[in-house]
Amino acid sequence: MPGRIFGSNWKMYKTVAETTAYLREFKELRRRLPEDLYLFQIPSYTALAAAREILAGSGIHLGAQNVHWEDEGAYTAEISPRMLVELGVEIAEIGHSERREHFGEDDLGVNRKVIAALAHGMTALVCVGETMTDKEYGVSDEVLARQVKMALHRVQPGQLGRIMLAYEPVWAIGERGVPAPPAYAGERQGTIRSVMKQLYGQPGAGVPVLYGGSVNMENARDLLRQPEIDGLFVGRAAWDAARFVELIEFALS
Ligand code: PGA
Repeated sequence: MPGRIFGSNWKMYKTVAETTAYLREFKELRRRLPEDLYLFQIPSYTALAAAREILAGSGIHLGAQNVHWEDEGAYTAEISPRMLVELGVEIAEIGHSERREHFGEDDLGVNRKVIAALAHGMTALVCVGETMTDKEYGVSDEVLARQVKMALHRVQPGQLGRIMLAYEPVWAIGERGVPAPPAYAGERQGTIRSVMKQLYGQPGAGVPVLYGGSVNMENARDLLRQPEIDGLFVGRAAWDAARFVELIEFALS
């Protein structure tokens, strides 16, 4: 994957009208940024069709915040990979900590979703991260290793080009989150990379690992300077298009 990677998960924010306004502005402002960046946006399901139209030909990649593992079936309110591909979705975000915390997603389900997303030609963006309890008990690296190994179970080496990992410590995410110190985040990402190397050899070590969790105008540059951090996965600080572009410029400066 070329250059650095920057993207945003919009969670349950922004209507179709708000999405449209944001993406029009972001597409314009994006011209200020280096061309070799890999940029992606992950709006809500309801806004995907509108987002696709605006982003067509822009080189900005479109993601969905979740995906079901079956092509179709009696799964009320779920969205299948076929449905997402039909809408032009290229990235399936899987296993975000809010999905794990509020909707009972576990590592087995994450794995099924990864396999399904890959089977449909999407990139799987797999989120992993330890809780504060894991950190306090000194098992962060074990937890990350387990999450990565289970998420990628049965993923073939030839599919690694369509895997992105996001390290998002649960305690660092959202309003009550405390940003991870860059050196700490870099170390955990190093753990993730060594697990990938253990699983797949050198090609595994080449899979991009993003950092997410309270990325902001104070910490973005120091985070991106960590050799193990390939990009930033941003929530709140990205939901204003101009601020997100400024944050990317600052991170790269
Ligand atoms: P935040 O969200 O940047 O608002 O902490 C990050 C995330 O949930 O991916």
